[in-house]
Amino acid sequence: MTAPTDALTLPCGVTVKNRLLKGAMSEALGRRDHAPRPELPALYARWAGGGTGILLTGNVMVDARALGEPGNVVLEDERHLAEFHAWAVQGSRGGAALWMQLNHPGKQAPRGLNAGGTVAPSAVPYPGGLARAFETPRALTVPEIHDLTARFARSARLAQRAGFGGVQLHAAHGYLLSQFLSPRHNVRTDEYGGSLEHRMRFLLEIFDAVRAAVGPRFPVSVKLNSSDFVRGGFSEEDSLAVVAALGERGCDLIEISGGTYEKPMMMLGQGERGGFFADFAGRARAAAGVPLCVTGGFRDAATIRQVLAEGSADAVGLARPLVTDPDFSARVLRGEDVSSEVRPLKTGLGLLDGSGYLEIAWYEDAMRRLARGQQVRAGEAPLLALARIAAETGLGAVLRRRRA
Ligand SMILES: Cc1cc2nc3c(=O)[nH]c(=O)nc-3n(C[C@H](O)[C@H](O)[C@H](O)COP(=O)(O)O)c2cc1C
Repeated sequence: MTAPTDALTLPCGVTVKNRLLKGAMSEALGRRDHAPRPELPALYARWAGGGTGILLTGNVMVDARALGEPGNVVLEDERHLAEFHAWAVQGSRGGAALWMQLNHPGKQAPRGLNAGGTVAPSAVPYPGGLARAFETPRALTVPEIHDLTARFARSARLAQRAGFGGVQLHAAHGYLLSQFLSPRHNVRTDEYGGSLEHRMRFLLEIFDAVRAAVGPRFPVSVKLNSSDFVRGGFSEEDSLAVVAALGERGCDLIEISGGTYEKPMMMLGQGERGGFFADFAGRARAAAGVPLCVTGGFRDAATIRQVLAEGSADAVGLARPLVTDPDFSARVLRGEDVSSEVRPLKTGLGLLDGSGYLEIAWYEDAMRRLARGQQVRAGEAPLLALARIAAETGLGAVLRRRRA
């Protein structure tokens, strides 16, 4: 029976010290030139001290022309390796495995943020209200797809050189790789669209290119949706097939999440057993044949222990609970009957409540405070957090923030 304290040996041969993972949370702590700001090493030193076995960075972009939000960190060349190295050192303290999440937003980038517009598998706009936030993208050409594959590989190799202990490809939550997987967003008729085999080609080619760039002994993980939760989108059946394909390639850890901007289940989902995607994870783990992690909605030690003990997953991911209590993992590992204070945020203002947007703004503000050694209290003054983020980054930037 697996316990949170058990070490986990990955297919690449690397052993991580326990079964708890900090999920990626975009910190928006990039400088104007997209290098990591000094708050990042400080923040990750705090998390490394909290016992969690694997720490995922917030998404780091592979192309400065394609930001997902203002303040993104970008790793596309050697310019800022010293700053990345400082981040890697602090986030690896005490034997934590610090992995960099690599991302490209595709069409899920706020209107006007990227001067050259946005790209996607196909020129399919978002429906309804989201069309106001995101412009209609241009379809990528095949040479551009190959160029992006090389970019993911280059960024992964740079992360390795900077001292990060692994990388994760972000193929969940509606960003570019997730857009390719979805038959709703990918209506290409070439070898990158159509059948599921074609839709997953881009992800698998990136995986292979990254593996070739970092070598066989370096953890390469993928974050994947269980489903997009929209009609005609990426389904659970599709997801199980992608999990199997990644398993065959020896993916070191598949992290299961779910949802997109249209249906932000990763932020607002309600799991029947305390986790949003635990039931699906159990089925995916059987198909994977490689380690599987499930993230979203875990709030108490008992549920985490149960998911591991019954074999629904090999590791459990925590995001928001580690912002309000960076030592939450240490307490679970000590066997405490701990329960997180994280609850859905409420302002009393209908439009804001229940929007992934409020969650993002509050936790972003909270991560800044954590990085400065300040106290963070669960659910505290959500409107004040919005105001502080607006004061720091400008109201325009706040309005252009993404949802997850
Ligand atoms: C502020 C914030 C930023 C996030 N940024 C990312 C991200 O960059 N990449 C990602 O895969 N997920 C991101 N997420 C989603 C989390 O990794 C996680 O899947 C989600 O919060 C559910 O886990 P939780 O219930 O433990 O918070 C973000 C979540 C929050 C709150």
